[in-house]
Amino acid sequence: MQFPFEPFKIKVVEPLKRTSREERDKVIREAGFNLFKVPADSILVDLLTDSGTSAMSDNQWAGIMLGDESYAGSKNFYHFEDAVRRIFGFRHIIPTHQGRTAENLLFSVVLKPGNIVPNNTHFDTTRANVIHKGGHAVDVLNRAGRDPNSVEPFKGNMDVEGLERLINEHGPENIPLVMLTITNNSAGGQPVSMQNVRETRAVCRKYGIPLFFDACRYAENCFFIKEREPELARKTVLELAQELFSYGDGCTMSAKKDGLVNIGGFLAMNSQEWATKATNLLILIEGFPTYGGLAGRDLEAMARGLEEVLNEDYLRFRIGQIRYLGEELDRAGVPIIKPTGGHAVYLNAREFLPHIPPSQFPGQALAVALYREAGIRSVEIGSLMFAEKDPQTGEVRYPDLELVRLAVPRRVYTSMHMNYVAESIISVFEKRDEIRGFRIVEETEYLRHFTAVLEEV
Ligand code: F0G
Repeated sequence: MQFPFEPFKIKVVEPLKRTSREERDKVIREAGFNLFKVPADSILVDLLTDSGTSAMSDNQWAGIMLGDESYAGSKNFYHFEDAVRRIFGFRHIIPTHQGRTAENLLFSVVLKPGNIVPNNTHFDTTRANVIHKGGHAVDVLNRAGRDPNSVEPFKGNMDVEGLERLINEHGPENIPLVMLTITNNSAGGQPVSMQNVRETRAVCRKYGIPLFFDACRYAENCFFIKEREPELARKTVLELAQELFSYGDGCTMSAKKDGLVNIGGFLAMNSQEWATKATNLLILIEGFPTYGGLAGRDLEAMARGLEEVLNEDYLRFRIGQIRYLGEELDRAGVPIIKPTGGHAVYLNAREFLPHIPPSQFPGQALAVALYREAGIRSVEIGSLMFAEKDPQTGEVRYPDLELVRLAVPRRVYTSMHMNYVAESIISVFEKRDEIRGFRIVEETEYLRHFTAVLEEV
């Protein structure tokens, strides 16, 4: 195993506060056993998300000081536009303050009620934006991606045959675009191969349907392509990104991931007609087209981050750090989803806590145990987030997987922090029989996991 060497020095530090087990126990009770309600300064290692949590470089901070805060025509916008055009290649570039606004603009423009949007797997906000505009969001994930025990290299791929069947079933006129999410977050941060992008595009071309990318983690995806598609190993990650996007007609981007910024995003596309409509809407909901809900300084940080993220030493460290955490856990017999993806390690809570039934939220029980044991914040992706009650029969349908995601912020934690996380999880694993399930005391109708109050069974 290669040790993930941090290819940077630390110039600014943010102290971490240590808490005692008694303090954490009090905090988590007061939060109704809901980690979203725990104040961040009571957390030692925060693995809730990799989104908007990156550490910026000295180069990005220097860019912040060069912010041109002109309402129109800020020079930072042109730097941003140049960076996006060089990497992504699309003609029209529309800045937004984060990814979901790009989704909102896109689907407001392209969707008619009743339309279908196929995606390898929709992220929650993408799905919600499709539904909000009256569309149907359909996941068309390949078989390996649906199997937690498969170790295929590209478990994020689109099921290309399934896509063609879906198009024939509903008619291409009812499908305004096809989307590919790279990497596939909801399917474990798994990558999509260049081969799969080419095949997806061939189907789209055959039926005259545009192909868009949800490009949040594009650099991580392209690094996996370099590692795992031998005929592409000699290309740079930049060249791979350029080739990949050349197969598409546009993208949505949350730069809070592979833009290495704390806020920012964009929508990009080749269609003049769609871009004009999206820009008109942008002015209504985000701002003038040369700032799109951001400050000039934010655009500069994003321009620099989009380029920095392609550095292959950085990506080797990034992907290596996630892999390292996964290997440490796997060696100790802790059940995880394999292979590890680009931004997170996923614990298999159903196997970790076989004595807790889905009705008692094994993922949440594990997430709470990690906080109590070690001050680590993770996120449950299981029955608390996804169980659905059948409106007719009242019967509860549980999701196939009960997972706990450990999403690692970019350039924030060292490999020693990862050792601490691994050791703490292994120690919880050794005492797993003592962990109890939960029941819900209070919940909302939608997205209950953000606010639910729970108690121990
Ligand atoms: N698409 C994907 C694949 C995402 O992972 C996210 C956010 C978005 C779109 C929306 O971007 O937050 O900037 O509006 N994912 C975060 C996460 C929240 O924790 O996985 P946004």
